[in-house]
Amino acid sequence: MRVLSGIQPSGKLHLGNYFAMMKRMIDYQENNELFAFIVNYHALTSVFDAEKLREGTFDAVCDFLALGLDPDKSTFWVQSDVPEVTELTWLLSNVTGMGLLERAHSYKDKMAKGIPANLGLFSYPVLMAADILAFGGERVPVGKDQKQHLEIARDIAERFNTAYGETFVLPDADIAEDLATIPGIDGQKMSKSYGNTIEIFTDEKTLKKKVMSIKTDTTPVDEPKPIEGNALFELYSLFLNEKEKEELKERFITPGLKYGEVKKELAGVVWDYFAPYREKREMYANDKAEVARILQKGANKASEAASYYVELARKNVGLDY
Ligand code: TRP
Repeated sequence: MRVLSGIQPSGKLHLGNYFAMMKRMIDYQENNELFAFIVNYHALTSVFDAEKLREGTFDAVCDFLALGLDPDKSTFWVQSDVPEVTELTWLLSNVTGMGLLERAHSYKDKMAKGIPANLGLFSYPVLMAADILAFGGERVPVGKDQKQHLEIARDIAERFNTAYGETFVLPDADIAEDLATIPGIDGQKMSKSYGNTIEIFTDEKTLKKKVMSIKTDTTPVDEPKPIEGNALFELYSLFLNEKEKEELKERFITPGLKYGEVKKELAGVVWDYFAPYREKREMYANDKAEVARILQKGANKASEAASYYVELARKNVGLDY
């Protein structure tokens, strides 16, 4: 199975990114053909500071490598190193109805918040469709917020195939429903734009501070604590297996549990969980030449994969005069 997904380099990656996408991708690489990339073209729709984009891209690359993405087993690259996707975006644009894009939540939400829209933001889903279709991605692990984008990608592929003959594979979204929404420290969905994230790679003091500030309810100590919608319980559960999760549940429903103590414990769990990755990350961050070599190799592999679908699409629309 060809598994493919991309991640934005628009800020420090956090536990939401890790559990909804990165970890699942890394797990997939054992038995699948994995394509993973850092979407810096997409980030251009919201990052207007070149140095920030450079830094964010390099950081995201180091994060992914440190967390276990194996560039020998998988194809791992930076989106802009395979510029063919932008050409494919143009071909796809002409089978994409305005209405389809006008209904996209990401665009509608930004408009509603009064964020001025540009053409890049509006056509974001078309570039995303190109990202997937250029490589024949079959299964696309993403967070729940990307569900509609995947539907749009599939829709565009269908329209193209109908108009020009069988060209693209129809991709399926792969959303882990059980962890569909990972709460941030305020209980809302963890998201950079809400400022409620717990970063994967941060110093111990900051991590502790973040975990200690997870919003909890005011249930008195000597009463059972709720599980549903309890951000502390949900975040802690991400680090546990089924059995451990049951034990944690038991502790929550047993009177006497102190949220403060559980938070302290969780800070330690998170810190220890990422300890081996932290060392690896340090190594990559200090070896830019090695990172560049890895990315070059990834871009070559990705280009080769893209050439099949992009060539076919060029031919099918009649660019091969
Ligand atoms: N839009 C995705 C996000 O913000 C990132 C993305 C870009 C992506 N291209 C993709 C995800 C292709 C999956 C496949 O999370």
